[in-house]
Amino acid sequence: MEFHVLTIFPEMFKGFLNESILKKAQGKGVIEIKLHDIRDYSKDKHRKVDDTPYGGGAGMVFTPQPLFDCIKNVKKKAPKAPVIYLTPKGQRLTQTKVEKLAKGDWKFVIPSDPERSRRGSRGMSTKFTQLILLCGHYEGIDQRVIDALVDMEISIGDYVLSGGELAAMVMIDAVSRLVPGAIGKEASHEEETFSKKLGRKKEYPHYTKPAEFRGMNVPDVLLTGHHAEIEKWRKNHLQ
Ligand code: 6GU
Repeated sequence: MEFHVLTIFPEMFKGFLNESILKKAQGKGVIEIKLHDIRDYSKDKHRKVDDTPYGGGAGMVFTPQPLFDCIKNVKKKAPKAPVIYLTPKGQRLTQTKVEKLAKGDWKFVIPSDPERSRRGSRGMSTKFTQLILLCGHYEGIDQRVIDALVDMEISIGDYVLSGGELAAMVMIDAVSRLVPGAIGKEASHEEETFSKKLGRKKEYPHYTKPAEFRGMNVPDVLLTGHHAEIEKWRKNHLQ
């Protein structure tokens, strides 16, 4: 999967991308992350990307010109990629959605504006291997960008962040670990919290050696090696 991130703070991603699973997955070529600085597309001589809202009110709004030019340019390199706008007003990100995104399932892409004819609904292509993640700031972005170019709006929860960058990182992390080859053993996410196999429930508790620690014991059944009984115990301990 190739992630194109559109942001005014590309530096925020550097540390996050260069650690752990994401670093390994990039090294293996399983995922690629490309950062695009929205200010680079501003035609303003001071690289301005925002302005005051029509109708008045607090805060600033991203102007359409830099976003249009940035998205249009990135789309040349990623023509089949859905454009996802990270906003607290979006659809809530769930493990089911993360799985669909990792599979590149266009049919699942939930239109920001159902009236608009979409790639998925036109049946042009039902698979993508690239995602465009647009990080907003301030009070948001000009609605015309959403109407014309955004395919799906995603939120990571019911609270407000100061920008979409952290949400984009959350999405990249959650999606990347499901891309085949990103994690050593692929089976390791078949049976995890919120997986289909566990009925989208929270996983059973895990224990490792030693069998007794500070007077606290590992449940006996897990020490027996009796697989059917262990399965039963685990099933009963899903939340
Ligand atoms: Cl995607 N963006 C911002 N700014 N705040 C959020 C969010 C996204 N999801 C939850 N809160």
